[in-house]
Amino acid sequence: MDYKAYIAQRLPVEGVSREEIAESITVPPDTSLGDYALPCFKFAKLMRKSPALIAQELAARYPADGVISGVAAVNGYLNFRVDRRGLAAETLSRIQKEGEKYGSSPIGAGKTVCIDYSSVNIAKPFHIGHLSTTVLGGTLYRIFQFLGYKTVGINHLGDYGTQFGKLISAYKHWGNKEDVQKGGIHAINDLYVRFNNEATEEMEAEAREYFRLIESGDEEAAGLFQWFKQLTLDYVQTIYEKLHVTFDSYAGESFYIDKMGPVIDELKEKGLLVESRGAQVVDLEPYGMTPFIVLRSDGASLYGTRDLAAAFYRKQVYDFDKCLYVVAYQQNLHFKQLFKVIELMGKEWAKDLVHVAYGMVSLEDGAMSTRQGKVVWLEDVIGRCVEKALSIITEKNPALENKEEVAEKVGVGAVMFGALYNNKIKDIVFSYDKALNFDGETSVYVQYTCARASSVLSKAGEAGEFTVPELCAEEFELVKALADFPDTVKEAAEKYEPSFIARYAVDTAQKFNKFYFGCKILQAESGESRAFRLALTKATLTALTNALTLLGIGVPEKM
Ligand code: ARG
Repeated sequence: MDYKAYIAQRLPVEGVSREEIAESITVPPDTSLGDYALPCFKFAKLMRKSPALIAQELAARYPADGVISGVAAVNGYLNFRVDRRGLAAETLSRIQKEGEKYGSSPIGAGKTVCIDYSSVNIAKPFHIGHLSTTVLGGTLYRIFQFLGYKTVGINHLGDYGTQFGKLISAYKHWGNKEDVQKGGIHAINDLYVRFNNEATEEMEAEAREYFRLIESGDEEAAGLFQWFKQLTLDYVQTIYEKLHVTFDSYAGESFYIDKMGPVIDELKEKGLLVESRGAQVVDLEPYGMTPFIVLRSDGASLYGTRDLAAAFYRKQVYDFDKCLYVVAYQQNLHFKQLFKVIELMGKEWAKDLVHVAYGMVSLEDGAMSTRQGKVVWLEDVIGRCVEKALSIITEKNPALENKEEVAEKVGVGAVMFGALYNNKIKDIVFSYDKALNFDGETSVYVQYTCARASSVLSKAGEAGEFTVPELCAEEFELVKALADFPDTVKEAAEKYEPSFIARYAVDTAQKFNKFYFGCKILQAESGESRAFRLALTKATLTALTNALTLLGIGVPEKM
């Protein structure tokens, strides 16, 4: 439960909003004085009294109840002691009741969030650089859904540009149907790379002509392009299935070609479009930015022009409350410019556009990193991680039945967790060994903890009714962690930070393991303790499962 809000609700302070009070409440590092504390220093000026006096007055006024069992004023702090048994009873019965919905909330009901993520480029490799956008976006999608929002997952495909003329030219010279059909994206990418290395002047000219033909809807050229696009999409689909991500729309850049006109007209009408060396641009110098180019001197549109049309389209069609762009920080300037242009056009919804920027992922393992411009395909990283997971699992538990299935969950989970565990803006170096460390801050550690909980529960048989005994420290710490899950989900959504949930999972798993090693569960001292500890174990499994599920990571029953 949200204690901070609960306390704030029952603690009116004149001139201070409840939200402000709730935000001021902290969790003291040393819980011997209390489980929550309100520092009263900041009210001193407003109330013209000393913090110590304020704390005393508030303490006298606070109506203690079954949730807060004690209130005390200490040196300008107002300390609250939670009714531990009450908290345990409430949390466990809530988790029992809500099950896989535990942590969800209806706060987003009636609101829509568009999330632009993964947004792959046709005919280009799906490489390690796409990992973060895909799993961060996929997780944000599930988090917002869990909070009751209507979510629209958009794969803003990179499916427009002169490079597709090059691809057709390369195909005509060096490709054939069977090889491309068989080799799929890899064959297409090889053709494209070969064009960039070997194309002659004539081929370059030919490529421009093919691009023009695609645009004018020429049957052959447009047909070939559609085929390449389909092969790319079929390929990425297999990866999306592994990573558990889905999309509601694949409207990519080409989708906006016929939708740019009205937006450009509006820019003109509003006097925002100026000519600069033949190009049509929006001057952003007053805002410390380079100009936003709308049309090149040859009249062609750009990536940004298509993004501009896309933002208008999304607002019109989905009427979003927020539109998120999960894109690497390399595009910080692009999005700052884009949002500024929309703001200059007088659209108040410009404030609802959010660039959810993230850092780079690279591989620690030199052997597989960029070699002679060779990219690291994500499928290879996943494959290798699953393979390693399989050998670790086989060694640890040779008798385990469905090893392959478990290895898939562990290996894929480890790759995903790599992009989810750290604050998203950080650059990450992925290491197979670290990611698969059963004792580290890893997904496999959390998965293993879940399997441990499952095993306790299956040994116990039916877990019956429980009552709450006096709690030991390990039990109470775990209960508090379990009670925190709903808030964690909300905070992750507010800050667009899936790592909050990943960290929560590791932290809660650690607390469970302290409890597991510190307290006897099946052989508990009393029947009351046994029943309570089993209920606590079950509740932990539910909370951890919900956390991993939000992250898109599978939970094996046995490991
Ligand atoms: N396809 C682009 C790239 O690989 C990312 C697109 C992101 N989304 C957007 N609306 N610009 O860089």
